Amino acid sequence: MLTINSRAHLCDYPAELRQLMSIAEAGRSLAWLSHWDQLNAGLTPLRELPGLAASLGIAQLSVKDESARSPLGSFKALGAPIALVRLVLRMFPERELDPFELIAGRHAALLRDFTVISATDGNHGRALAAAARSFGCRCVIVLHANVSQEREDAIAACGARIVRIVGNYDESVEEAARLAAANGWTVVSDTSYEGYQDIPRDVMQGYGAIAAEVLAQRDVAPGQPCPYTHVFLQGGVGGLAAGVASYLWERFGAGRPKFVVVEPAQADCLYQSALQGRPARATGSVDSVMAGLACGETSPLAWRFLEPSVDVFMTIADDDAVTAMHRLASGNDGDVPVVAGESGAAGVAGLAVLRAQPALSAAAGLDAGSRVLVINTEGATAPVVYQQLVGESADSVLARQAAWTAR
Ligand SMILES: Cc1ncc(COP(=O)(O)O)c(C=O)c1O
Repeated sequence: MLTINSRAHLCDYPAELRQLMSIAEAGRSLAWLSHWDQLNAGLTPLRELPGLAASLGIAQLSVKDESARSPLGSFKALGAPIALVRLVLRMFPERELDPFELIAGRHAALLRDFTVISATDGNHGRALAAAARSFGCRCVIVLHANVSQEREDAIAACGARIVRIVGNYDESVEEAARLAAANGWTVVSDTSYEGYQDIPRDVMQGYGAIAAEVLAQRDVAPGQPCPYTHVFLQGGVGGLAAGVASYLWERFGAGRPKFVVVEPAQADCLYQSALQGRPARATGSVDSVMAGLACGETSPLAWRFLEPSVDVFMTIADDDAVTAMHRLASGNDGDVPVVAGESGAAGVAGLAVLRAQPALSAAAGLDAGSRVLVINTEGATAPVVYQQLVGESADSVLARQAAWTAR
């Protein structure tokens, strides 16, 4: 399914949005984060896949590979720690804390009795747990029924206390809010809701680093045009898409690329928001193999950025994501093999779905001259699931990747 968003316009980045998220603040976030020992050193790879581009009939396909961002396995490592830094700075303004010292855990004594809590479908909770452990505060993570045991184990290994509920993601968000109110804990969520915006804004701002790195890797000097015609962004609550789109919109103004948001058909809250013209709920079961995208409710704050900037909203089936995982892992047509988890592969899956249907592809403005950027937002964050779906372990794909790189 696809809808063209008539509310998206080509114009300069509005001042009222710049007050919320900006390139300047994204740069500050990245500078702080570069001192966090849970991030791998350097930029994540920007991989060119000419073979896959040719088979999809486009001019260029670049994959920003966030699987290499951190041992935590996903781009979410850019969000939670930054939100925690900014939260602690706001809590103790009189102390004028140094963010770098905070990240290094040198204020652990101050934070000993401070507890953060969040619901998660896996990756945000893992990043928050790791950040809390580095900074020296406590962390409680609320998991819904469909979060796999291996994802729970990975979060618990970062030192968080786990609370399991029987309901779905949205109910876990409500439970986290309830527990926080009852215990005096602070919610550090990647989604916004009525009266709760600053922290999810800081999370989204952290994701702007992805766009900043891509432009640096492509040597795009200020004033030069965007090297991409299209950017495909997978959507859960909309935070990733808002963080990346806002950066590129501010940078390129009316010359920004087309943004395409891709969601699972069962968790289509952003697609529904586009149809209804306001933050909306998903119509499906909200249960998808794309665990990170299995969100039933749009983040209203993210929607403020997406509504005026995303040109196309589309949904895909679980099988489309699995096919894309295979394609990326295969390294066919001379391409480098890439480990993309279920949600990580969704951008490529959306592109392939559109290219297989000429009318939809044309509606999205894709043609043989298109230069497309996708973001592989996670590696094998659930390794057992990955092996089941791809038929090969992530380690084996990574070994083929290393051999390809060493050629
Ligand atoms: C791997 C992965 N990709 C994409 C997303 C979507 O991000 P958002 O919920 O900010 O839209 C998530 C969310 O958890 C995720 O884990």
